[in-house]
Amino acid sequence: MTPQTPHAPQTPPAYLAGLFSLEGLNAVVTGGSSGIGRAIAGALARAGARVVVVARREAELAATVDELTADGCRAAAVSCDLGSREGVRAGAEEAAAVFGEPDILVNSAGINLRPPMGEMTDEVWDATMAVNLEAPHLLGRRFGPGMAERGFGRIIHVSSQQAHRAFVQSGAYGVSKGALESLTRSQAEAWSPRGVTCNTLVPGFVMTPLNARLSSDPERVAALAARTLTGRNGLAEDFAGAAVFLASRASGYVTGQSLFVDGGFSVH
Ligand SMILES: NC(=O)c1ccc[n+]([C@@H]2O[C@H](COP(=O)([O-])OP(=O)(O)OC[C@H]3O[C@@H](n4cnc5c(N)ncnc54)[C@H](OP(=O)(O)O)[C@@H]3O)[C@@H](O)[C@H]2O)c1
Repeated sequence: MTPQTPHAPQTPPAYLAGLFSLEGLNAVVTGGSSGIGRAIAGALARAGARVVVVARREAELAATVDELTADGCRAAAVSCDLGSREGVRAGAEEAAAVFGEPDILVNSAGINLRPPMGEMTDEVWDATMAVNLEAPHLLGRRFGPGMAERGFGRIIHVSSQQAHRAFVQSGAYGVSKGALESLTRSQAEAWSPRGVTCNTLVPGFVMTPLNARLSSDPERVAALAARTLTGRNGLAEDFAGAAVFLASRASGYVTGQSLFVDGGFSVH
């Protein structure tokens, strides 16, 4: 991107490209085969980034890549289990080998197993922390220093309104998401002095496979929509604009923040 001066008139497309184009950047999106992650992967790819989507199920990964390449985007998939340290480390190397070291890392992979605190087991606690918190931490450690060395990077986490309030048996899930927002700030402290911004997108209630059980209850769905200032529940596509902004050069002075993309759910 060439630096712009106030005296260099530009067409709107050139001006917008200077702010938001992701041409020439590599992105890794965990959970990029479903729901919010898939919408974010699509948005980054359509904004010009080369995108590697990372998750376990190969059919969903392949379908995502097919959709993006059919649209003229550059995309690839890596199948790995982010529920173990070995899985995260192997997946990270494989993802970096496709297009090169990522400039943008999005951690959208997440699980919500929902047992109430009183019924918590070690297995649920460990699995939740591994995917929702430890994987973002390890991927940050793997890719953050390289981004800082190159002087540019964008790390975007996806937490939850349950990082801020107890809601529908938040249990271990809410704890993991609260810690993820703290991780964001620690990462920002470590790498933002060298051009790497680290931020979190905070969804409210979004109609995705993650909450299929809740989404299939029309009364609950209607009640949640009514409690949202925009009058509807979230869709995965609602995250496209915010993700492109946080991945782009336009957000260079925004770091350590939690950006609520929730139709006003959190302020009502
Ligand atoms: N939907 C909501 O209302 C809502 C609200 C607040 C926050 N969020 C957060 O938003 C993020 C995306 O959720 P979503 O609603 O889009 O859910 P989703 O549609 O269920 O997508 C979850 C993604 O994570 C991947 N994943 C899960 N476990 C994995 C593992 N062990 N290893 C690798 N990949 C794994 C899944 O692929 P595989 O199963 O194939 O591995 C899938 O691609 C999550 O972090 C979630 O906590 C969602």
